[in-house]
Amino acid sequence: MKKMSSMLAALAVTAGMTAQTHTFDINTSKVGGPIPSTMYGIFFEDINYAADGGLYGELVMNRSFEFPNHYAGWDISGNVTLKNDGPFKRNPHYVRLAPSGHTDKYTMIENRGFFGMGVKGGEEYRFSVWARVPDGGTAKIWVDLVDNATMSDDQKLGNVGVELSGKEWKKYTGIIKPKKTFAKAHLRVWADSKVTTDVEHVSLFPVNTYKGHENGMRKDLAEALEQLKPGIFRFPGGCIVEGTDLATRYQWKNSVGPVENRPLNENRWHYTFTHRYFPDYYQSYGLGFFEFFQLSEEIGAEPLPVLSVGLSCQFQNDITRGKKEDEVHVPIDQLQPYIDDVIDLIEFANGDPATNQWAKLRADMGHPAPFNLKYVGIGNEQWDYKDNPVFTKRLKIFLDAVRKVHPEIKYIGTTGPDSEGDKFDMLQPRMSELKVDLYNEHFYRNEEWFLKSGNRYDNYKRGKGAPKVFAGEYACHGKGKKWNHFNAALMEAAFMTDLERNADVVEMATYAPLFAHVEGWQWRPDAIWYDNLRSFKSCSYYVQQLYSLNKGTNMISLTMNGKPVAGNADQDGLFASAVYDKNTNEVIVKVVNTGDTDQPVTLNLKGMKGTHEGHFTIFQSHDLTAENTLDNPIKVVPMTGKTTFTAPVNEVVVPARTFYIYKIKK
Ligand code: AHR
Repeated sequence: MKKMSSMLAALAVTAGMTAQTHTFDINTSKVGGPIPSTMYGIFFEDINYAADGGLYGELVMNRSFEFPNHYAGWDISGNVTLKNDGPFKRNPHYVRLAPSGHTDKYTMIENRGFFGMGVKGGEEYRFSVWARVPDGGTAKIWVDLVDNATMSDDQKLGNVGVELSGKEWKKYTGIIKPKKTFAKAHLRVWADSKVTTDVEHVSLFPVNTYKGHENGMRKDLAEALEQLKPGIFRFPGGCIVEGTDLATRYQWKNSVGPVENRPLNENRWHYTFTHRYFPDYYQSYGLGFFEFFQLSEEIGAEPLPVLSVGLSCQFQNDITRGKKEDEVHVPIDQLQPYIDDVIDLIEFANGDPATNQWAKLRADMGHPAPFNLKYVGIGNEQWDYKDNPVFTKRLKIFLDAVRKVHPEIKYIGTTGPDSEGDKFDMLQPRMSELKVDLYNEHFYRNEEWFLKSGNRYDNYKRGKGAPKVFAGEYACHGKGKKWNHFNAALMEAAFMTDLERNADVVEMATYAPLFAHVEGWQWRPDAIWYDNLRSFKSCSYYVQQLYSLNKGTNMISLTMNGKPVAGNADQDGLFASAVYDKNTNEVIVKVVNTGDTDQPVTLNLKGMKGTHEGHFTIFQSHDLTAENTLDNPIKVVPMTGKTTFTAPVNEVVVPARTFYIYKIKK
């Protein structure tokens, strides 16, 4: 966040004083209910190369030769053969590198990574491989990082020799320090010219991962998550939890244990859009449930795993158009393994290693202490049909079963893919009947929807027995402007005043999707973008961060003429909410002016007197289509500065198309 001088701040607030003032009555002496600590969070899905090729630090694609095209990502030369009786049961393929039979021909395999490999000059990269010398004795392989597009004499950026010995499979490692930074490096493994070797699980990671884990995360991307201070972390995704078919749904049990033995899964985002098609997009599960839990802990967020309810993607398996329910979904009497997945996951996260095999696996993986899991989502975007409650009949069976074993967990259902309409209207009351603790709502909608939804949660049922809301996926998809422009972020900021004002109903909210590789995206807008070396935060990211860093601890009432400020017809495009932070003793007022006119506002700080120190933050762009990019990552960023407020009456002007935050020391 940039610092702003008070002179600039004054300019920002005095752009035009023509409109009539709006009085916001802010009752600072009556502190309301708590803002849940989970209120603003993150939702991770392996879409847009978010895991492999993104957050997950691995630089080698198809490291275990298990892609359906076993050489996907690889170029081979010399005498290379594919074998399938390797040391890892669930990843049996490996390659045999034999002498070429001619002194001037070389056996070598070259991996191109994910759109190349991003490496930084002078930093360390850990190469590792499982290998053996099948005929016994010793051998040496050479491993190079190369720039194979260079004009210079030598393509090599750095290399390491690795000595192998014996007929047994063993793990070998070596460190490569590239001499220069390059975004598109390839990795070459040169075979011993005289001795046959077998290699499997060929891997390259930066040593400098987030928190230094070997099977770790790309540092800049994980730090961007940490800087959001998320209260909740939903994983492993939305549609990938369901799968295009049941066989390819995300299966958490395959994502834990030694990485070498985690089986490959298809990724539906490889083929979901033929206009953005990525035939080499698979899930290695290297970033698996252990890593998700660990990351949640390290960034300070509550973990929120979502598991299959026994329905494959309902968009892709429409039983009203010929598909048979029991062929594409799990038959009702065969749900037990799916229910076991939920129960075993809770044990994996929280159980006692001395008595439970999944808890023992967690301990074996390096985390004997529980992860303190409190929430589990069951199902993603599911729905019922008029004559067949395919979803809720399954969910009921799940809830009855899992609640018996783990009543301490909060279970999250869903109102489907739409923010309103038939599916939503049918499901919302059913979520109450089933007594889910929360339900997950999704809305990817245009500007108008966001502008007219400022009162969405004001009239939701609240109180005992009413499920809470998890706004689990949302983003403003601008009409004709489906990318991360400032205006979309402004719409989200406006809408979020409604979340905040209704924090007694909305327990958590997560923007979506989180990540996108600039060369590998399928869906936009997204919060964080990157190439192999650089990353930038979108305007929407900054809105999320501003809410999260200024979420306060308690609601306080803010009204204009006795009504919430929610962009209504007589409110001149203004949206506003207020909270109190008991830790810092601050009143925090958020105001979004979505209109074209600067708006004078009187902050009527009821219960306060005299002058008060404070801060302001302004997020503004005169160009509504402005966006951050890799080349200009800070084109639109919030600016903050110190100021003094008068109380009870403080006059401000909220400029057109601006998100303002006022923090007033009480
Ligand atoms: O966020 C992208 C997709 O949008 C999610 O996978 C799904 O839940 C929703 O349809």
